[in-house]
Amino acid sequence: MLLASGFRLSVRSLMSRVVAVKGSYGQDVVEGLSQAPRSIPTYYLYDDYGSELFEQICIQPEYYPTRTERQILRRAAPEIASITKTRSLVELGSGSSSKTRLLLDGMVSYWEEQPVYYVPIDVSAGILERSAMALLDSYPTLTVQGLVATYELALADLPPVPDRLVAFLGSTLGNIPPHECDHFFAQVAEALAVGEYFLIGVDLQKDIAILEAAYNDQAGVSAAFNLNILNHLNRRFGGTFIPAQFRHYAPYNPTAHQIEIYVTSDREQTVTLGALSLSLHLSAGEKILTEVSRKFQVSELRSQLASLGFMTQGVWTDSQDWYAVMLLQKN
Ligand code: AVI
Repeated sequence: MLLASGFRLSVRSLMSRVVAVKGSYGQDVVEGLSQAPRSIPTYYLYDDYGSELFEQICIQPEYYPTRTERQILRRAAPEIASITKTRSLVELGSGSSSKTRLLLDGMVSYWEEQPVYYVPIDVSAGILERSAMALLDSYPTLTVQGLVATYELALADLPPVPDRLVAFLGSTLGNIPPHECDHFFAQVAEALAVGEYFLIGVDLQKDIAILEAAYNDQAGVSAAFNLNILNHLNRRFGGTFIPAQFRHYAPYNPTAHQIEIYVTSDREQTVTLGALSLSLHLSAGEKILTEVSRKFQVSELRSQLASLGFMTQGVWTDSQDWYAVMLLQKN
């Protein structure tokens, strides 16, 4: 545990529990690559370089979700603070905490001189500590209790800070496969007391051309981000993937309402992952799924969440209805 800044910052890591929960290291890679159709667990996209590339994606002209969510939050934050009267912001996947300031500004001005709490949750300790330090400098009434953890581990072990709002922004909900979504919502519900709040940012269904452009930017950052997963596997598991022999492919599936992101083999080839004793024979054009990014409808989400005990207290969208921020209360 790290304690700093006059004890206004503490960071606890739960990562040693990850292997125990997920089974032996790399087992999920073997399972994903051995099944038909093949897949690689999405979290392998986010090594240090992948996380940097993702930050770059967020500022590409075609990738509208980040800037649209920011515009909505800027407008909605004071209202969110006065509806919820929350004192503690818990952020799942806090990353660089760049949108956090919009919510904290609302909270801090509502509570004036009284203490407020921020619980950032991220698997990367470095980025969590750096952004926490910067926030402590800006907000003298803030105490930060960070958790280096997966969402699952963190939700089972949230610090007992008062009047919580759990924020899950950036449409990261879209990267959770539909069959796991109810389980995730149930974990959030379990973590919260009656009356506490859940805030989600979600990307909405829209014209296919706009969606596909966002995941296939002209500058090629999305492609580099996706193909970097192969370098990451090479490094971790002694792999022989040659990224130049694969292509980025990210079409929208209008039936499943999701962008599906693949790396496709541009030739017949054999790849091995020595540390996992895995040998893959890939045909020309064979696809490996690396991520899905679901696109939502507010009305559907509202009823799904209501059936799990969350009442919608507010919905904010942009002028084009491309993106929504939904405030829910546990009942
Ligand atoms: C993190 N997540 C919400 C992004 C998305 O839009 O689904 C990940 C991403 N993958 C490729 N581009 C962006």
